[in-house]
Amino acid sequence: MPEISNEKSYADGKILQHATDGVGVITFNNPDKRNAMSLEMWEGFGEALTTLRDDDAVRVVILRGAGGKAFVSGADISQFEKTRHNAAASEEYARRSVAQRALLADYPKPTIACIQGFCLGGGMQVAMLADIRIASQDSQFGIPAARLGIAYGYDGLRHLVSLVGPSWARLLMYTGMRIDAAEALRIGLVERVFPEGELWGETMAIAETISQNAPLAIKAAKITIAQVLKDESARDMDAIKAIGTACMDSADFREGRQAFMEKRKPKFQGK
Ligand code: COA
Repeated sequence: MPEISNEKSYADGKILQHATDGVGVITFNNPDKRNAMSLEMWEGFGEALTTLRDDDAVRVVILRGAGGKAFVSGADISQFEKTRHNAAASEEYARRSVAQRALLADYPKPTIACIQGFCLGGGMQVAMLADIRIASQDSQFGIPAARLGIAYGYDGLRHLVSLVGPSWARLLMYTGMRIDAAEALRIGLVERVFPEGELWGETMAIAETISQNAPLAIKAAKITIAQVLKDESARDMDAIKAIGTACMDSADFREGRQAFMEKRKPKFQGK
């Protein structure tokens, strides 16, 4: 990976974060354990997400794993004996990790999971919460909850079912099997697959395109798609209307129109 100047570190360096040219990057950095997530890492992940969320210069966030072998290999199983050995302990564990995932679920900016290698269990949960998943050809995906005796939970399964449908969700959950990138692409778990050497460049190219587009228009798409996925009775149509109005009254819409007429690249400000 190229040298990075403005890097911040959380969870003793196991979560890294930096931002360049409107693109924020969070790196799961525990390659010796295939980036398995400890509770400290979940909390560091939450801090990194919050920092990038509150940085006005950041328009899109990429999540990736360090070491080339894994995105995230799931929760750190070595912590389970202490922190997740029964229902009561699991509840406390869930409370601490769910809070960080909720930040990602409600993230106001577009997010991309850049997946190389193993993406398992809790790693799948993170990847499925991202808006878009881009993977390398050597990636592998699975949720081995049935091999460990773990209930995967409502939020994780809701996303799995919405991406791959109930039958594939059952096959994956009942067997705990791993599938490769080609199969993940075919069933809709990931959107694009590239050779290992091209993954980062291709992911950055998508992120840069997003970061140069009109932030309010992207926000409108993000909010509206999230509402489409809800039951009709739970949909917040006012939120869709409000962002639509903000968009159509924005300086960026003026800039977009003008730039098109003047045959130049627009310069958007997010207002
Ligand atoms: N929790 C804790 N440690 C993990 C881990 C996890 N989820 N995944 C990997 N590790 C550790 C291994 O214990 C091993 O540690 P060691 O070097 O001290 O023995 C190290 O990471 C490397 O793993 P290893 O199995 O030797 O590498 P591999 O490349 O052959 O296989 C995996 C990688 C990810 C396929 C395999 O480690 C695995 O199946 N991990 C568990 C995945 C899982 O069940 N996740 C769901 C948790 S809810």
